[in-house]
Amino acid sequence: MNATKGPEGFDTFYREMYGERWDRLKLALLAPKKHVAVKNPFSKFRMPEHPLTVQGLSLEHEVGENFPQPEKTEEGYTNYYLMDAASLLPVEALDLHPGERVVDLCAAPGGKSLMCALKLQNKGLLVSNDRSAARRARIHKIFDEYLPKSEQMNHKVTGHDASKWCLYEKSIYDKVLLDAPCSSERHVLEDSKELNQWAPGRTKAIAFTQFAMLASALDIVKVGGTVVYSTCALSKLENDGIIAKLFQKRSGKFELIRPEFAFGEPTEHGWQVLPDVTGWGPFYLAVVKRTK
Ligand SMILES: C[S@@+](CC[C@H](N)C(=O)[O-])C[C@H]1O[C@@H](n2cnc3c(N)ncnc32)[C@H](O)[C@@H]1O
Repeated sequence: MNATKGPEGFDTFYREMYGERWDRLKLALLAPKKHVAVKNPFSKFRMPEHPLTVQGLSLEHEVGENFPQPEKTEEGYTNYYLMDAASLLPVEALDLHPGERVVDLCAAPGGKSLMCALKLQNKGLLVSNDRSAARRARIHKIFDEYLPKSEQMNHKVTGHDASKWCLYEKSIYDKVLLDAPCSSERHVLEDSKELNQWAPGRTKAIAFTQFAMLASALDIVKVGGTVVYSTCALSKLENDGIIAKLFQKRSGKFELIRPEFAFGEPTEHGWQVLPDVTGWGPFYLAVVKRTK
């Protein structure tokens, strides 16, 4: 048996990356996921009187390990959106203001786009892009479940390849969210077929695509605008590794903004939320400001 592949290879690879922390991380990845419930302002649903709160998030929220599935209230809109608290951090990091022009390059199923829409309050422009048609349908569905049509006038859904977008548009957007497709090790661990097929080449190949997407994102944001790069990967090749490559290839054209949040930990270039310590994530983000 080749110990660089499959479950053993997976363990070896991540133990080399995270040292003795890997065993704790793996246990945490296999534990049930927690969610925050972000209240929908278009539903009259009220949060219970004493919600448990997650510090440092600007959207109304509640933690619940067994939080009930969201449901439609009598106004016709779904009461809250369940997500990992760490998934809200890229939206916080975008620091959105009504009137800005924003593109979410890899948007489906659409949780972060929906949070962006709540921040933009139907002013400016929000483009939710995803290459997969089936997944784009989920963006439409979520927006229609949560927002009145009259509150979606600034919203467009597109289906471009994020890594090639810069061939068609340049220096257009105030803010770009790149929540990139990634190794998503939690899913690999949960799926024995995926785990058996795992090989180190996988994260290297994904990192290659992620860098192409980030380079494209940096071209389409205006000078002075911000790109937030995020993944739910543990592989450092897909996280700080991508930003390190940006320093090699685009030096002098951007600066890093160092985000800080109430939970998680700094990395060399960004911020990471790991489930062994916080119960949230894994999630990584870096904030890149275009300067040229
Ligand atoms: C991590 S998921 C995005 C999750 C989403 N931001 C959310 O919060 O619901 C990555 C998405 O990227 C899309 N994708 C993959 N390759 C792409 C490409 N080249 N261009 C645009 N979207 C792509 C996938 O279809 C997938 O929906």
